[in-house]
Parts: sequence; structure tokens; C-alpha cells
Amino acid sequence: MKPTDEALAERRARVAKRWELTDEVVLLRAGEPASWSGTDQHFAFLPHPDVAYLTAVGSPGTTLAFDAAAGEWELFGPRFSPERLVWEQPPTPVGRPLDELGDWLAERGDRSVIELGAGAEMPETLPAAAAKAESDTPATDGDDQPSSAPDDSTPEQVDASPATMVVRLGAAIALERITKDPAELDDIRCAAAASASGFDWVYANAAAGMTEREIQVGMEAQFFAAGAPRVAYDSIVASGSHGAYLHYVYAGDDPLRPATRTVEAGDLLLIDAGAQFGGYASDVTRTMVVGADPTDEQEFLWKLVLSAQQQTIDMCRPGIVWREVHLASARILGAGLVEMGVLRGDPAELVTQGAVALFFPHGLGHLLGLSVHDITSVPYSRTPSDDPVLSRLGPERVLAADMVTTVEPGVYFIDALLCDPARREKFADSVVWDRVDELRGFGGIRIEDDVLVTDAEPEVLTAAIAKPIRIG
Ligand code: GLY
Ligand code: MN
Repeated sequence: MKPTDEALAERRARVAKRWELTDEVVLLRAGEPASWSGTDQHFAFLPHPDVAYLTAVGSPGTTLAFDAAAGEWELFGPRFSPERLVWEQPPTPVGRPLDELGDWLAERGDRSVIELGAGAEMPETLPAAAAKAESDTPATDGDDQPSSAPDDSTPEQVDASPATMVVRLGAAIALERITKDPAELDDIRCAAAASASGFDWVYANAAAGMTEREIQVGMEAQFFAAGAPRVAYDSIVASGSHGAYLHYVYAGDDPLRPATRTVEAGDLLLIDAGAQFGGYASDVTRTMVVGADPTDEQEFLWKLVLSAQQQTIDMCRPGIVWREVHLASARILGAGLVEMGVLRGDPAELVTQGAVALFFPHGLGHLLGLSVHDITSVPYSRTPSDDPVLSRLGPERVLAADMVTTVEPGVYFIDALLCDPARREKFADSVVWDRVDELRGFGGIRIEDDVLVTDAEPEVLTAAIAKPIRIG
């Protein structure tokens, strides 16, 4: 659902309040598409998400301007010349013609101009400027604002150099984008519904003897038939041992002559795919055995991953630090791997040592919105953890109502990790390497849903997508 003019005005007002500017001029640019060499065309374009959030339009060149002295916003959109209109259809006209931006700026004299969105030049050093943004007074008086994870550090003195202003103002927009308003949730629900069409097609049609590529194309066709303009990210359709590459994508091997694998009876098929709608992502993973009953090991690990997912979805409630949800999932998976004879020791210690991360080497989830990995993985004012267990954790935030996060535990047997002599030595006591060797080539199992945090029960936005353990 396109936000109403009132909803857009509300988003802009909240951002302006966070910015606390008095005299500056801010330009938010959607960006320009990349040329496709040897054609008269461009690669598919998506606007910078901050511009999409504040304008709900997506044409290249779209620029939203803010005059802090007047407290006024002005939208500029591209218009095509007659020559260009011979070849391309016109973008939907929005705001004032982009050609007038120069005059608009000239009228504002030599006031400081801050470029954001695709025009922003990010400085190397983030924390000081962003600490200011994160500690700013919330844009509303209510206590419904997301808060950052507990932080004992004292924000450093904030400077107002152009580079740090870019970070501070960008962080302020991010703080607004973290929680989703009704129009945003509506688009995420539409994206999820289109994804459901695709997964339903897979459940009804995928079978041993089909290639990964056939399954991908058939699924994505349903996304598009259901109204999605595009996928939210390259679909991951990985059968057998390919499931152990977390982001296995078609043509990852060779963009010119991609290979595809034929799914065999008894293979695990891991599909991580999502439709996009209105610029908003869905992000869903299902793993199933194709054309045969699951083996004991497939069934044990599938149920383990599902259990970890169910238990941690239930933890997605306001006030919890995401790190705790991640660590809970890792302990559940660790306990299962001990029960299976792959790990030995206390699950909590195995998590701390990094032994569980050999089999679960990614974060439990990430925020979802205009980007599939939405906003930032850690609050701007905090440096990412260098702990091997937590470094890929994802949002190190306190969950709040109206955030949307994925919950996607997984277990994988990844040769690059498990055949590394240094890791074999380091984890000689905690990993049962003979058992691991029996399971090499197993692939991976991941189960992922998109979860809306509410003041009541967590709402699984992708709940309509079934979780069969076997298809075909
Ligand atoms: N859907 C891919 C990812 O979350 O990284
Ligand atoms: Mn994901």
C-alpha cells in the first residue's frame, strides 16, 4: 500500500525532529542506475531506501530536499526530453522538475548543503557522530521508541563536520525506519503473500529429476504472477551438498555458462527466496527432502532446526536484546548436536568456544524492510563485536513493537570450516570429527520466517507458507 500523503508527511516530520537542524539544506538523492555496457539500457534500479521511505517513489534522479531554516521539504523528480521519450517511457512525474533543483539551491545562497541517500559520502569513522543520533530525544513523546542495546560507553564529543553530519542524519533516518508503520507492514504482507504463491508451487511441483534452475524459475514465476515486481534478493535453490553454501545462487559458478544440478531422490532441497513488493522484502527459507522419506539424520536435524526456530520466534518480544535470542538458538542447536554425537560437552560452553558456530555460522536473523538486511546490523554507536561467535550476529538491538525481524536458525556441514586443519586441532576435544566425516556432503538445513514484534504475541508474517519435511 502506497503511504498516504499524510503518512509521508508524518515520516518526514519525525525525521526532521530528530535532525534538530536550524540552517542547513539537506538533499536526499535516490541515485542513478548503472549502465549496462553495450546496450542502450541500464541495470535494474532501486532507489536508495531512505529516499524510498520518505517519498514512496523510486525513479532514478528523484531528490528530496529539506530547507531547515524554513522547515520545508521539496520533492524533485526527473522529466525526460522528447529525444529520450522516443526510446523510453516516462517516469511517473513527481514533485518539481529535477532541472529546477539548481535554482532552488541558488535561492538558498551559501548555506551548508548536506548530501544524503545515494549522494552521501560516508566517512571512515562512524561512532562519534552516530552516538549523538542514537542518544537523541525520541521523535515522539511516547515510550514506543526502539531503544539501542544497553551501552555503558559515554558518547564522545560530537563534531559537526560535514562527514559526521552525514552519519548523524543518516542514523536518525535509520532510527525511524527500524519500526514499520501500517503502510510498510502492508507491503511486507503483500511480499509474503507473493512468496507463499511461489513456495506453494514448489510443494506441488518440485520433484526428483528436476534441476535447481527449473525449480527456481517455476517458483519465481509465481512470485511475479502474484504481483511482485521482482525478487528481494537472488533466490537460493540449493540441493544436496549445495545447501552447505549459505548463499548458493544460480550462475555463482560461471555467469556465462552456469551449471545447474538435477535434484536426486533423497536430497535435501534448501530454498531461501522472497518476493519484493512496493520495495519491501520478504525472506523465507524452507528445507525439505525430495522424493523420499527423510533419513534419521535428516529428520533429527530438521526437527532440531524447527524447534530452535519455534522457541526463538516465541522470544521475539519487546525489550529482549537480540543477542540473547541468537545465543538461545545456538544453545538449542548445540544441545541437539551433542545428542546426535557430533559435539561433546556442555551446550552453553560449546557456544562460547565457537564450536556450535562451526555448524551454525551466521546470525539468527536480521531486520527486514526496504532492504532484505534492513537498516544496520548493529546500532550506529556500537562497534561490531570481534567475538567469533557474535561477529555475524545481526542486529544487536533491543526488540521493540513494530520491528520486523527474520528468525532463521540452521545447521550445515560446510567443508571450508570442517576440513580446516587448524579448526580440527582447535576443536579436537569438543567436536567428534569421525562423526563429522560421516556427515560430510549432508548439505544444510535452514528454516526462516519473517516475524513482526508486537506488544502481544509475535506475529509470523510468513506463517501461510507450509513447512513440509518431505515433498515430491
Ligand atoms: N535471505 C538471505 C539472507 O538473509 O542472507
Ligand atoms: Mn534472511
